[in-house]
Amino acid sequence: MRIIVTGAAGRLGGWLLQVLKKRGHDVTGLDVVKAERVYQVDITDYDAAHKFVYANRPEVVIHPAAWTDVDGCARDPEQAIIVNGFGAQHMALAAAAVNAAVLYVSSNEVFDGTSTRPYYEYDITHPVNPYGYSKWVGERAVMSLNPRHYIVRTAWLFAHGGKNFIQAVLSAAQAGKPLRVVTNEVANPTYNDDLADAIAALIETGRFGLYHFVNEGACSRIQFARYFLDRAGFADTPITPITTQEWPRASTPPTYAALCNLAGRHIGITLRPWQEAVEAFLAKEGLLK
Ligand SMILES: NC(=O)c1ccc[n+]([C@@H]2O[C@H](COP(=O)([O-])OP(=O)(O)OC[C@H]3O[C@@H](n4cnc5c(N)ncnc54)[C@H](OP(=O)(O)O)[C@@H]3O)[C@@H](O)[C@H]2O)c1
Repeated sequence: MRIIVTGAAGRLGGWLLQVLKKRGHDVTGLDVVKAERVYQVDITDYDAAHKFVYANRPEVVIHPAAWTDVDGCARDPEQAIIVNGFGAQHMALAAAAVNAAVLYVSSNEVFDGTSTRPYYEYDITHPVNPYGYSKWVGERAVMSLNPRHYIVRTAWLFAHGGKNFIQAVLSAAQAGKPLRVVTNEVANPTYNDDLADAIAALIETGRFGLYHFVNEGACSRIQFARYFLDRAGFADTPITPITTQEWPRASTPPTYAALCNLAGRHIGITLRPWQEAVEAFLAKEGLLK
């Protein structure tokens, strides 16, 4: 298939470029950031987005590009809507104009975190912070403007080569710094590589709809940290449990934002348990003890 991937200088978009090429697709990447083999296009520019899509005539536009700095979004909620909402609108419209499908990568933060069980795909959304709201605007734009759409929500991504929670905590542990990790935030740690494989499999099915692609199982931030510290040889490193109230930040995350991958399972696309994914990640980084 001919595919455009947005956010191709980012963690998920960059890895998707490689995965899709390996599967034999003809892939072109764009990003606002300059990077090798990636075209520089700003998706908030409607004309530029359209021109790029017209020139490349894709069959699918995969759209992970986003302003992912959740605290930045909290400080500038309108800019969050412009990038994450209107950017998605532009890509959905441009794709529709050339009869292409669109896949929008969304977030578990479209939910408010008050559920007592993992969220199903069609549970009522109710974002509680500006980042979540902006991703929800993007979802609505894509759903209403291009009937041939996939919405893929994910959570707590960890990827090679970028900033992420695992690397931040392991670096602090290696430096002997005290670790304080929150107990009352729960979601699904999800390996970027597994998510990219699942997205590639999904677009090859043509089964449009709403999906929750996360590694199986959920845990609190502190359980996640304890697991990878133990596996990376830091079993003796203590962690002080704290609550989100003791970790002041601009954005308020939903407390219980675990997702259930019911729709993906129904069509045979599942991701392995998060613990196995963490071990695969550490092994590839040469950190698994
Ligand atoms: N990371 C997570 O834990 C997580 C959890 C749930 C959902 N998601 C979703 O998953 C997707 C991929 O996340 P990721 O971690 O791979 O993000 P990422 O590494 O931040 O990649 C996103 C890329 O999009 C670029 N971008 C921002 N504004 C743009 C614009 N106007 N035009 C074109 N490109 C633009 C970013 O550039 P800049 O670096 O300059 O902004 C970045 O290169 C996102 O849609 C995110 O909302 C992520």
